[in-house]
Amino acid sequence: MEIKSDQCTLFVCVCVCCRLRIRPRCLNDVSRVELSTCVLGQRVSLPVGISPTAMQGMAHPDGECASAKAASDAGAVYILSTLSTCSIEEVATAAPLAIKWFQLYIYKDRVSALCATGTSSERRGAAVVQWLDYSPPATPEFSHVEILPDDATGRELTLELVRRVERAGFTVLVLTVDAPIFGIRRCIVRNEFKLPSHLRLANFTGDCATEICDSKGGSGINEYALSLFDPKLTWEDVKWLKSITKLPIVLKGILTAEDAIKGADLGVAAIFVSNHGGRQVDGAPAAIEALPEVVRAVGDKVEVYMDGGVTQGTDVFKALALGARMAFVGRPALWGLAHSGERGVANVLSILQWELETTFQLTGNYNIPAHMELQSSSSHGTTIFQLTWNFILPAHHA
Ligand SMILES: Cc1cc2nc3c(=O)[nH]c(=O)nc-3n(C[C@H](O)[C@H](O)[C@H](O)COP(=O)(O)O)c2cc1C
Repeated sequence: MEIKSDQCTLFVCVCVCCRLRIRPRCLNDVSRVELSTCVLGQRVSLPVGISPTAMQGMAHPDGECASAKAASDAGAVYILSTLSTCSIEEVATAAPLAIKWFQLYIYKDRVSALCATGTSSERRGAAVVQWLDYSPPATPEFSHVEILPDDATGRELTLELVRRVERAGFTVLVLTVDAPIFGIRRCIVRNEFKLPSHLRLANFTGDCATEICDSKGGSGINEYALSLFDPKLTWEDVKWLKSITKLPIVLKGILTAEDAIKGADLGVAAIFVSNHGGRQVDGAPAAIEALPEVVRAVGDKVEVYMDGGVTQGTDVFKALALGARMAFVGRPALWGLAHSGERGVANVLSILQWELETTFQLTGNYNIPAHMELQSSSSHGTTIFQLTWNFILPAHHA
């Protein structure tokens, strides 16, 4: 069967960024550049993080552990996917000092019930969760959530994942909200994608770990999501998630002011503007196009991040100039990982850092301002914008 999805959004992600122009300012002492910033109360060395991408063991045998170690050395945020080939605990052990966030997919209620029935000795969903040889540090802060709230019935698998994430020292939960089902990804269908049989989804056992190793003729990952992820999620589930954890919650996959406002009103900590790397709705805007409306709507209440099509320092600069607190990269980190594991990811981050630093210097900026105002104007169909902090006298110039 011929698949028609053109993957326009994938193309748009990259070319929209190219259309934006930067207006450099001159003579502004950029001998010292400071790229570090604060996200959700944590200091990061650079405003670039690694987005969650599933099954990194396909890119390199060291998988997510290698990526997390590279992020740790760079002082950058690392987001681990639910669908990882290294488990939560393995990543925590490999990169204890990394700034680790966890991306969450919520599984169907019946999945917990089904899997829990499979091994009757361990009810409450723990049966489907693989407990590796890992002794998490005591975290009394989280002891309040040991008892399942009444409305958590059927959500045991998700709840158990959250508990493990908390115990393993992850500091933020990133709830992906743009994937009630997976989009039609032409190349994945054509390739009849499935996880090679020597790999597993390491956070689970049973069907949740291995169903993805099979495909009934299309994409194994689409079949996995259709069979196991909960397509009934609503804003009520965000409230539920908030009720069961103290970790800050970030909503990933928001592309409109309306949804950003709903999230901020519910008390999430940040909005992550993303079109899932052009893998969900084909025809959705590039994240960098949607970013200004989200920043305008909620930028003064919550932090805003973005990903999609960020491949060089100037892209990060543009995202910051448009109001993102931080930009993330998905595929570029995978390319580095596939090339040479931890060293490859480290290299990608260091190139981005160098390019961003250079962009700051060449545009007359020496740090990331706390308050940016977008100045934009249009010329021949091109948006021109700049960071406006340089109208404020910086402290070390006074
Ligand atoms: C191979 C691959 C796997 C991905 N897996 C996940 C995932 O497990 N969870 C998720 O929220 N997003 C996932 N994404 C989307 C990324 O988090 C991110 O939004 C996207 O890759 C950003 O675009 P970029 O690749 O152009 O940087 C995946 C993307 C790719 C390319």
